[in-house]
Amino acid sequence: MRILITGGAGFIGHNVALYLKNRGFEVVVIDSFEHSSPYALRRLNTYEIPVINSDARIFNSYEGFDIVIHAAAYISVEESIKDPVKYFENNVVSTARVGFECAKRRSKLIYLSSAAVYGEPIEIPIREDHPLNPKSPYGLSKLMSEQVLKQYADLYELKHIVLRLFNVYGPGQNPAYAGVINSFINRLKENKPPIIYGDGTQTRDFIYVIDVARVVEVLIERDLFNGEVYNVGSGEETSINELAEKLMNILNKRIKPIHAAERPGDIKRSSADISKLKNAIGFTPTSLEKGLREMLGALIEGT
Ligand SMILES: NC(=O)c1ccc[n+]([C@@H]2O[C@H](COP(=O)([O-])OP(=O)(O)OC[C@H]3O[C@@H](n4cnc5c(N)ncnc54)[C@H](O)[C@@H]3O)[C@@H](O)[C@H]2O)c1
Repeated sequence: MRILITGGAGFIGHNVALYLKNRGFEVVVIDSFEHSSPYALRRLNTYEIPVINSDARIFNSYEGFDIVIHAAAYISVEESIKDPVKYFENNVVSTARVGFECAKRRSKLIYLSSAAVYGEPIEIPIREDHPLNPKSPYGLSKLMSEQVLKQYADLYELKHIVLRLFNVYGPGQNPAYAGVINSFINRLKENKPPIIYGDGTQTRDFIYVIDVARVVEVLIERDLFNGEVYNVGSGEETSINELAEKLMNILNKRIKPIHAAERPGDIKRSSADISKLKNAIGFTPTSLEKGLREMLGALIEGT
């Protein structure tokens, strides 16, 4: 089976590419290289995964790909508030293009959406039918993308699945856009205090990138391209203070975190209800402790 991954030289895209290649799929990635990392490119090269330099808004060589995983997007909430047009232009237009090309060629599409589509939760854990009220242009661009694909399913019978990813962690995040886990690890390794925005009681649902890849594989194998939307999280709610504590224990460092002003667009709590995904594919997420240890191992080995 041939798989094309857009944004495949980014953090999640390249981890999914490596995983699927290991599992026997034929994988090709495209990326504009705007936010790809040398680490990701090195790993793709080691695994002999072809990398095409192209923008997903114009790329149209989809012939021969059974499955397309659309991971290309700009991902900074903060930047999207400063420059919303950039986010709508890239994230929505790329999805409109990728989806339409898939529909024309009858390729099946997995869209990597985000928990940012929910905005500030009014109920925890968050189910897929929670109201959709994104707080940032980034979140809105992901929601608009989902809507574009839903319309394509109605108009052109596009076969697709939407995965609403919660906070994904693992090796190979771009340092400029790294999530809280990478930023804490980098600071602790330099014996600097982790920086916590706000009081640290805000919570997140951290999901290991290899779990995302496992979910993608099972959905492909079971051919579950039914237009459904699935939360992909761990179902565990972890505060940022707890996360800092956990990482310090694993890394054997004792450095008191420092606090900075809360960031605009940040939500107070986040935790996924993953029962829909569990029911569909019997998914058991990796614990945060195990995922962090594995991730640190991969970073040390440079693999
Ligand atoms: N990282 C997370 O925690 C998280 C959470 C929820 C959803 N997501 C979604 O997962 C996807 C991947 O995120 P990531 O964390 O790997 O981000 P990333 O920035 O590491 O990777 C995205 C890649 O897409 C590329 N790209 C951007 N626009 C492009 C375009 N028009 N054409 C071709 N390539 C383009 C970038 O160069 C980059 O390599 C995104 O769609 C994001 O919205 C990520």
